[in-house]
Amino acid sequence: MDPIAYTAQIVAAKRAIEQTLPQPLGQDPYALTLAGHEVDHLLAKWQRVADQQGRSLQDVILKRTRYIAIRTYFFDHLLTTTLPRLSNPQVVILGSGLDTRAYRLAWPPSTHCYEVDLPTVLDYKTNLLQPLTPTCYHHLIAGDLDQPQGGWIRRLRADGLSPHIPTVWILEGVLMYLPEASVHSLLRTVTALSSPGSVLGIDGVSQGSILAAQHAQKLDRGRVVRHWQFGCNQPQELLARYGWSSEVNQPQDIGKAHGKYPEALPITAEVGGDQPNRGVWLVKARKTR
Ligand SMILES: C[S@@+](CC[C@H](N)C(=O)[O-])C[C@H]1O[C@@H](n2cnc3c(N)ncnc32)[C@H](O)[C@@H]1O
Repeated sequence: MDPIAYTAQIVAAKRAIEQTLPQPLGQDPYALTLAGHEVDHLLAKWQRVADQQGRSLQDVILKRTRYIAIRTYFFDHLLTTTLPRLSNPQVVILGSGLDTRAYRLAWPPSTHCYEVDLPTVLDYKTNLLQPLTPTCYHHLIAGDLDQPQGGWIRRLRADGLSPHIPTVWILEGVLMYLPEASVHSLLRTVTALSSPGSVLGIDGVSQGSILAAQHAQKLDRGRVVRHWQFGCNQPQELLARYGWSSEVNQPQDIGKAHGKYPEALPITAEVGGDQPNRGVWLVKARKTR
């Protein structure tokens, strides 16, 4: 996998490691299989950090896995509460990576779930999960989201996605990898394919986080954050421009996560540096027109 595609494997490893904590948030029974050797790699690295800083390994793990666990929980909850209200449920997960929702969620009958990601990521996942049967009608669409007018949109339509009924869109941990112009093109595309009543789940980082990520890149650090390009401090305004009405959440405020979120955000540890105003947001938006 190229380094951007490989971020999906790092995220899967974080989900797998979260489950070794005494009180994990969420369960993904397939994360360990998908994460492969990356689990041992991260644990060895974090043990060195724990030794250097005189902290427990569990404390170091928590700061690096909990945000991923919370956002997985947030988008799972969005799907399981929204889809039962739709008569023809259809979901598109853009930049799905090694997300295993198609195999582990209890989808309403007749749900169609479309996953879009780079071909290497989708091939890797389907090869490893081949013995499993998806719990929905599952469509894998290889495509480059940096080409918002690309063939993946044609393939989504050809596989049955209808713009005339509501769609639930999930963009989990993906917007930050795109240049700003592509983010706007992608939001235009998503909006054009969405009838009123469609729902969009999306997370992102602040502009301060992008400055911190650039700092990490200069230091040749941060296998995930070094690829980040897009940050936004006002997600509500961004989405309103495209006709979406949003509710913005902070990880520490999200239901089950309450009281289970470490004070310092995980990116603090990954990126280092003194950049203030780093942050993340999670949004649930509804298309109003
Ligand atoms: C950090 S991973 C997150 C994966 C998944 N959503 C999750 O949370 O587990 C980012 C994902 O975005 C995908 N991605 C980044 N840029 C992309 C692009 N231009 N086209 C398609 N996928 C892209 C990567 O391949 C990777 O799977």
